[in-house]
Amino acid sequence: MDLKQLNAFIAVAELRSFSAAAQKTGLSQPSLSRLLKQLETDMGVMLIDRYHRPLHLTEAGSFFYDKISSILTEVDTVVSMTQRLSAPSSALNIGFVPSILYGLLPDVIARLKQSSPEIEVNLKDISSYQQMDALKSGDIDVGFGRFAHQDLWIQQILLRHERYVVALPKAHPLAHVREQRLIDLANNRLILYHQTHLPISNDSTHPQSAAAEPITEPLLYLFAQYGISPFMTTTVSDLQVALGLVAAGEGITLVPASLKTVRTEQISYQSLIHENVTSPIYLHTLQDFVHPKIPELLSAIYHVYEQRGITYRRQKFQAPL
Ligand code: BEZ
Repeated sequence: MDLKQLNAFIAVAELRSFSAAAQKTGLSQPSLSRLLKQLETDMGVMLIDRYHRPLHLTEAGSFFYDKISSILTEVDTVVSMTQRLSAPSSALNIGFVPSILYGLLPDVIARLKQSSPEIEVNLKDISSYQQMDALKSGDIDVGFGRFAHQDLWIQQILLRHERYVVALPKAHPLAHVREQRLIDLANNRLILYHQTHLPISNDSTHPQSAAAEPITEPLLYLFAQYGISPFMTTTVSDLQVALGLVAAGEGITLVPASLKTVRTEQISYQSLIHENVTSPIYLHTLQDFVHPKIPELLSAIYHVYEQRGITYRRQKFQAPL
């Protein structure tokens, strides 16, 4: 059994077509078929059901695909890490979710460039979950996101908790009320915009909907912690669209406080009395391969926090041996 055979199998399993898989792997169709036949002969197991269309995997083939695809992803990660270890890139590729860009990211980059004028920084707008794959494939060296990830390959540093604020249309009756309570907002249409949902926790305190389903949408989760269930919601694709709808008077939403400067002509941002209605900010890197500039990046972040009087707790950073 070799890697060529396994890659051919993965391509067929994912594309459900010999011709598409041949195109993807750059093999001719007869070579691809030969590799798959060899793999099945070596294993003594039929992996692909060739007699039905669309083509599908046998039960053994599905089992093998589930297990082997994650092993091959790990192999790719190790190869990419080894290549980077032998020739680290001079540029620092940073992935971020949009709400981070509106906040302190520009200040952090400016501070980093001040302390390391030779550094080349590339910024990539990429969702929290995609950042995990991008770190493993080497597309980014570090990611900033708002969700915790449990992944053996990834090192995660909690930078701080940022408070949410309420975004209301300027003409809203509550627009000038400071220190708002979630309960007073429950009768408004709540605009939801998160692409990433919370993992379902197994503990019995995880809030549930009326239908006893665990609540994973991040804003609904915050309301549910106070026993509140907003009954009118609209879901949009991103934060900008959500704030656009608020500006148009279509509803209200909650955003991290660093968004407070967006569309201020049409939107009023007010703080909440609840101290634990916050959004965490994480820095993610690979566990075993840390770009040499990351300790400096972390110092730049802490410098900006101190300059702005932002409360944070310094976390221990584990540079690999
Ligand atoms: C922050 O807002 O805390 C932050 C933004 C960008 C990079 C790191 C931290």
